[in-house]
Amino acid sequence: METALLNARTHWEHIYETKTTQQVSWTQEDPQPSLDWILKLALDPSSFIVDSGGGRSLLAEKLTEQGFSDVEVFDISMRALTQARQELKSEVAREAISYRVCNVLDYKPEKDITVWHDRAVFHFLVDEDQRGTYIDNLKKWAPKHVILGTFSPNGPLKCSGLPIQQYAADDLVSLFAPEYTLVRSEERIHVTPTGNTQAFTFVELQRA
Ligand SMILES: C[S@@+](CC[C@H](N)C(=O)[O-])C[C@H]1O[C@@H](n2cnc3c(N)ncnc32)[C@H](O)[C@@H]1O
Repeated sequence: METALLNARTHWEHIYETKTTQQVSWTQEDPQPSLDWILKLALDPSSFIVDSGGGRSLLAEKLTEQGFSDVEVFDISMRALTQARQELKSEVAREAISYRVCNVLDYKPEKDITVWHDRAVFHFLVDEDQRGTYIDNLKKWAPKHVILGTFSPNGPLKCSGLPIQQYAADDLVSLFAPEYTLVRSEERIHVTPTGNTQAFTFVELQRA
């Protein structure tokens, strides 16, 4: 397992070293539905929001533009986070967002999480033990809200050249039940920077 994790880190560092945001399929100018779903929760702006494997996503910065002051982005790739920080447009965002280089399987929160967000990271855990670790950890930390985005059964079988696990909303709900229940789900078509389409499953789960 250690070699696999090392390889994963090498893979992602290489991607962020060699590809611009326009050259990777997952780039979104408007991080939806994640942003709207988080805003719908009408949370206190000091709520702790974690973007798991956030890479160069604009979600964290957009949240700070909406007043959120405690957002953490972690990712296995240091280069992704360095780029993300360099690209921040405001001092407010620089103060409100903390970055951590970390494998999701080793992640430990330093305080209670209100929202756990993960778009296109959980689906890379094709090994059952790794998937179990992710789910068990999340249930233990018990964030009030969990938002997950994965490729759907109508989506691709690989992401960034790596195999992924596709999920329908029901699959995700079963994995996190009974500790979590479904609030909403959506199959969303993502248009990549080169104009291809990818079907994603998004679910919002709430601690039961
Ligand atoms: C497909 S990209 C999605 C990035 C971001 N969530 C978004 O929606 O724009 C997958 C991200 O997960 C990160 N990643 C992959 N495996 C990871 C792991 N085991 N732990 C933490 N981050 C990981 C990658 O470095 C990459 O930034």
